[in-house]
Formats: sequence, structure tokens, C-alpha cells
Amino acid sequence: MADWDPKILTFYKEVEMLREGRFPRPRMLTLFPSYFCNQDCNGCLFSWMNKKNPKKMISEEILKIISEALDFGIKAINISGGGEPTLVQGLDKAIVFAGSNGMDVRLLTNGKELDKQLITVLISHAKIVRISLDASNKELYRINRRADDFDRVTKNVKALCEEKSRHDSDLIIGIKYLVDKFNKEDLPRAVGFAKSLGVDYVEVKAKRAFGPVLTPVEEVEVEARLEELRKLFPNFVKGSVIKSHLNVPCILTPIHTVVDAYGDVYLCCYFMNRKADHCIGNVFKESLHDFWGSERHREAIERIDRKKCNVFDCRFHKYNNVISEVLGHKDFFPNIV
Ligand SMILES: C[S@@+](CC[C@H](N)C(=O)[O-])C[C@H]1O[C@@H](n2cnc3c(N)ncnc32)[C@H](O)[C@@H]1O
Ligand code: SF4
Ligand code: SF4
Repeated sequence: MADWDPKILTFYKEVEMLREGRFPRPRMLTLFPSYFCNQDCNGCLFSWMNKKNPKKMISEEILKIISEALDFGIKAINISGGGEPTLVQGLDKAIVFAGSNGMDVRLLTNGKELDKQLITVLISHAKIVRISLDASNKELYRINRRADDFDRVTKNVKALCEEKSRHDSDLIIGIKYLVDKFNKEDLPRAVGFAKSLGVDYVEVKAKRAFGPVLTPVEEVEVEARLEELRKLFPNFVKGSVIKSHLNVPCILTPIHTVVDAYGDVYLCCYFMNRKADHCIGNVFKESLHDFWGSERHREAIERIDRKKCNVFDCRFHKYNNVISEVLGHKDFFPNIV
């Protein structure tokens, strides 16, 4: 595999449309079905929303959104949060509904409620499940996620991996490891521990903006350690703790869409520091057909504040940087092959 993300090649069609003044439809829906959580992680981006305005979608709301997404031609659903998505009743039915209708389903969870029923559903209807763990032992888990759930979560992850092999399922299972000052020394142990659980990969990212975040010097130290781990565990260790930067305007938000527990639709999932600017409509009050590509939507894209994008490590930073470099080049004639 190339050391750049080959997914970027698939963006060309949408970028051509945007350049011609047409508006592509999103391929993926990121759904935050809850602002409600059973943990209280140190520095959680959504902590204040989960505490101030808790809300869980009801089953009918999720099914309605998935139906609308299917009708709009959306091909994948990324279920995350916000809060903890597995606390929403009927999530299993929603996954079956999306998966049976041909959507690629991805779930991000803290893993506490990964019970037998949900595991059975994920094995047969999801493509990727990621579990946020952030520690290789109970003590660190308790410090970072402020919950005494390490044994329960790791037992659930093992059960998911075992069911996957028992059913010869293609489900991809990953551990997400968010690095901060408290767990940076734990990283090598955590990678070995994740391997012992039977998952397919570990994705490492840095905590940003809230909580005990790494200093730039610490980032470089942790990245050096990560480089060693990538060599020791090829194709198993993914991600980076080095800050990514958006150097050009972001034009790629129409590739996906984000709906939160209130039905509000946002340009992308990094909306928490600019809710008003990033909100383009509400799926409980109107349909995606009404506002997707509307004047309001286009204006919101034009208003994107790059400084706010650069607070986080958004994967669209690198996609935008590369696309802009290639397409902006005076020698780029796509028809001359
Ligand atoms: C807000 S959680 C919601 C899903 C689920 N509750 C979980 O913990 O995976 C989504 C992801 O955001 C990450 N996250 C939380 N706070 C963060 C921060 N300050 N910087 C970067 N990522 C953060 C978490 O590690 C988690 O992987
Ligand atoms: S489990 Fe997820 S949503 Fe809950 S506090 Fe932790 S990071 Fe935030
Ligand atoms: S954070 Fe910025 S770069 Fe990333 S998708 Fe959102 S608007 Fe685009």
C-alpha cells in the first residue's frame, strides 16, 4: 500500500463536479445518535454537550434518518458521538437496517455495552468497529476514562474478536488510542496488549484542545516511539500524534454529512467550536433534498474558518492539501494520459 491514502483518488469525481459548479451528494453519513455518556473521559470534546443538553435519539428517529440517507444515495454510515452511541435503544435494529440495505456500517464506541446481541449484529452487518481504549491497564483506564470499566470492555472486545473468527466474518476490528500526557509512556505496552486481544489494528491519535494534551516536544518523542512500533508491528499500528494542518480552503465537506442527536446537520464532525457556522439544516424539520447544495449550504462552506479547522487533526486536512496541489498545478491536464 502507498504511504499516502489511496482513498484520495476516489475524490476526483466530486471535485470535478464542484469545479463545474455542481454539488455532489454525500457518500457517507456520520451519525451522532446520542449526547449522553456512561463514561467521563478526561478532556472529552463533547463532555459539556453530554452534560448540558443530554439527548438520545429514539429508534424511529434513527430509522427515519437512515431511510432518508438511503433515498439520497448515501452509501455508508459512520456511527459515533457525540456521546456513547451504544446507549441508544434500537441501535442494533438500525445497524441491521443499514447493513441489509447495502450501506457500509462503521461504529465507534467505548465498548462498555458491546453485549452478545450487539456483537451478533455487528458480525453480520457492519464493516468496521472501533473501540476507544486509551490504556493497557485498569489504573490508567480509570485515570483517563474516569470509569472502572477496563476489564468489562476488554472482555467485550475479546468476545467480539472470538465471534468474528467463529463466524469467519470480514468485520474489521480496531482499537483507538488517544494519547495525552498521562498515557504516553504506556503506548508500547498498549500496542502489544491490543494485539493480544485479537484486533486487526490500533489507531493512534493525539488528544487535542481539552485535558492533558501533549506539548509539541512530547509529540515528537511519542511519534519516534510510534515509528518503532510501526516497524515492529507492520500494518497493525496506524495514525500519528503529529499535528496535521489545513493549508488551503476546505472544499471537501460535501463528500460526507453529519447528523447529531437533535437532527441538526453539520458540514463536518468538527463543529463543536462553531455550531452556528457549521449547521446547514435539520433532518427532523426538513429533508436533505431541501437544503443540500442550497445557498445556505454554499455560504456555510465559504465561511469555514481554517484556524478553527487546525485545532484538531481532521483527515480532510491532507485530502484538501493534496487535491489542491494536484489540481492547482498548471501542468494538470487530466485528459492527456
Ligand atoms: C467523543 S467519542 C464518542 C464515541 C464513543 N463514546 C467513544 O468514546 O469512542 C469519539 C472519539 O473522540 C475522541 N476524543 C474525545 N476527546 C477528544 C479530544 N479532546 N481530542 C481528540 N479526540 C477526542 C475519543 O477518543 C473517541 O475516539
Ligand atoms: S466515552 Fe466517548 S463520549 Fe463518553 S466521555 Fe469518553 S470519549 Fe466522551
Ligand atoms: S475540520 Fe475543516 S478541514 Fe476538516 S472537514 Fe471540517 S471544515 Fe474541512
